[in-house]
Amino acid sequence: MAKNSKKTFYITTPIYYVNDMPHVGHAYTTIIADALSRHKKLAGYDVFFLTGTDEHGQKIEKAAAQKGMTPIELADQVVIRFKNLWKALNISYDYFIRTTQDFHEKGVQKIFGKLKEKGAIYKGVYKGWYCVSDENFLAEDIPEDSEGQKTCPDCGKKAGQVSEECYFFKLSAYQNKLLDFYTSHPTFVQPQSRMNEVVSFVRHGLKDLSITRTTVKWGIPVLDDPEHTIYVWFDALHNYLTGIGYDWDLASFEKFWPATVHLIGKDILRFHAIFWPAFLMAADFPLPETVYSHGWWLKDETKMSKSRGNVLDPNLILDVFGPDPLRYFLLREIPIGLDGNFSHEGFLHRVNSDLANDLGNLVQRTLTMIQNSFGGKIEKIAQERDIDKQLRLAFDSVKDKVFHFYEEYAINRALEEIWGYINQVNKYLAENEPWKLADDESQKENLGRILYQAEAALRGISFLIFPVMPESAQKIWDYLGKSTPIEKESYATLKFDGFALGQKTRKPKALFPRVKLKDFLAEEKSNTVQIAKEGHMDYITFDEFKKIDLRVGEIIKVEKVEGTRKLLKIDVNIGTETRQMISGIADEYKPEDLVGKKLVVIVNLKPAIIRGIESQAMLLAAEIDDKAIIPFFIEDVPAGAKVK
Ligand code: ME8
Ligand code: MG
Repeated sequence: MAKNSKKTFYITTPIYYVNDMPHVGHAYTTIIADALSRHKKLAGYDVFFLTGTDEHGQKIEKAAAQKGMTPIELADQVVIRFKNLWKALNISYDYFIRTTQDFHEKGVQKIFGKLKEKGAIYKGVYKGWYCVSDENFLAEDIPEDSEGQKTCPDCGKKAGQVSEECYFFKLSAYQNKLLDFYTSHPTFVQPQSRMNEVVSFVRHGLKDLSITRTTVKWGIPVLDDPEHTIYVWFDALHNYLTGIGYDWDLASFEKFWPATVHLIGKDILRFHAIFWPAFLMAADFPLPETVYSHGWWLKDETKMSKSRGNVLDPNLILDVFGPDPLRYFLLREIPIGLDGNFSHEGFLHRVNSDLANDLGNLVQRTLTMIQNSFGGKIEKIAQERDIDKQLRLAFDSVKDKVFHFYEEYAINRALEEIWGYINQVNKYLAENEPWKLADDESQKENLGRILYQAEAALRGISFLIFPVMPESAQKIWDYLGKSTPIEKESYATLKFDGFALGQKTRKPKALFPRVKLKDFLAEEKSNTVQIAKEGHMDYITFDEFKKIDLRVGEIIKVEKVEGTRKLLKIDVNIGTETRQMISGIADEYKPEDLVGKKLVVIVNLKPAIIRGIESQAMLLAAEIDDKAIIPFFIEDVPAGAKVK
């Protein structure tokens, strides 16, 4: 192929609202996009992966007001949380767009103007109902309840009544054009069942869509009519154009548009499969190839969502396991279109059985034997036998299947296929029993043959799991003696025994921690409980340490928490205010001995409820034989002084 004629692959995630912190649901979409991007790069594509945040609109305006912040202050804060999470999850996006960026706002205004010029927009009055949580105008035929209210059919929240002047987009004029488009592009919406849903919705009839608000101020103003703020969905959808360069990097824009796939949750299918192509048609842009809609992660059988208060914070899991177990679990557990129920049992089962046992042990066993018998380096092997050939040929067929499953976004099936092969390698070792040959010098080359097979297989496996588990894959690859980035490899160049003999392998460290369910559940119940990790030392950076706000606290008042043996309720002056904290130190300290003492407390730990009382700070103590020993200041230090 000529230079620069690589095929492009442009993938997007939804841009997430910044009203609150990211949860496992957001992580899911982003992880899928990351795995597909990484796969496509290995397949030789020129990839652009766009993600970002949706920062305008009434929902954000309201959330900020409730927190006593300006919308942009809230957005700035939450954006950091998203970016940190993506970093912790090893997400390799090419660009993170924020809709408050200048070039995006200008791009949206320009397209709005273009639609107005072309007569696709007209001014009128919208009277109806609006759901702030979904930023959605309710369909007219939704009935009012006995109190004359309407409820959003999607999220179940009460809608608000709107009556205001606005600009309408002539969506009704696109009904037939959309239906024709769906017919000529039957794979536009994936999975297929979702396409049927979209078609029947459009057949039912489309009403013109209000695309500006006058009662919402937080958003992009219409250029020559600034009383009108552009509707947040009109604003947000165009990120897919501005994020790759629309109107600021033409070469990039022309290279990557139209998008190959917009990956979304099924909650926002209508916006992407109906409004979005209609907007694009009206402005004469080519349409994206596919809108791929995935299912929901449920907890306790309902959709995980911040407004329902049943979200899982992925950071808790990441702190203990690192990124790959979560990436693996979410992608392995369900096919992309279906819903999944997140349970800690299910998660731990996968981690312990698939990762620690099947894969982790294989890596450990193979490399340890190579260390022990060959000093890390196999230089000579006995001639290949049938059983070896089978393992080698099986790899080629597994590689083909895995490639095709990834191509079809059937990531769970790709993983099933890889784990089938991992078990085949485990079986190969069980049948050949290399551990029995280790002490017999005359069997050395024979032993070399077996371990070299396992080594080659592992190398192939690490390549195939790379899209889903980039960190672990690279670790295995490096243990095997190649310190080149897997990213530089490709399906085209990967060979089963692409390693020369005599490659120096390394001693592996345990790849996946083993955590007990009861510790894990305790962690979820109370994030004050630390999970004991076995044989694992994680460093934190200085920046991470700086996040912990430690202060000198002066104990003002102490009383026992009734009905408990160990708990004390301690009022502590931290300079700016007095906080109460609950601490299990009644065995070691009498309340009257504590008053007046100065000690170190953490003041920015998330408050926890202990025995129904809010604990708003935490003291530091050494744990000696199950007893807490508190370090007190000897010098007279002022309460509130920073400790670092
Ligand atoms: O809708 N299971 O943003 P949003 C799986 N800003 N995925 C989930 C999920 C769950 N329980 N909860 C959320 C918006 N998601 C708009 C999008 S795009 C131009 C504008 C994922 O913060 C899923 O991808 O509500 C869903 O579509 C997205 O988060 C919604 O994120
Ligand atoms: Mg949502």
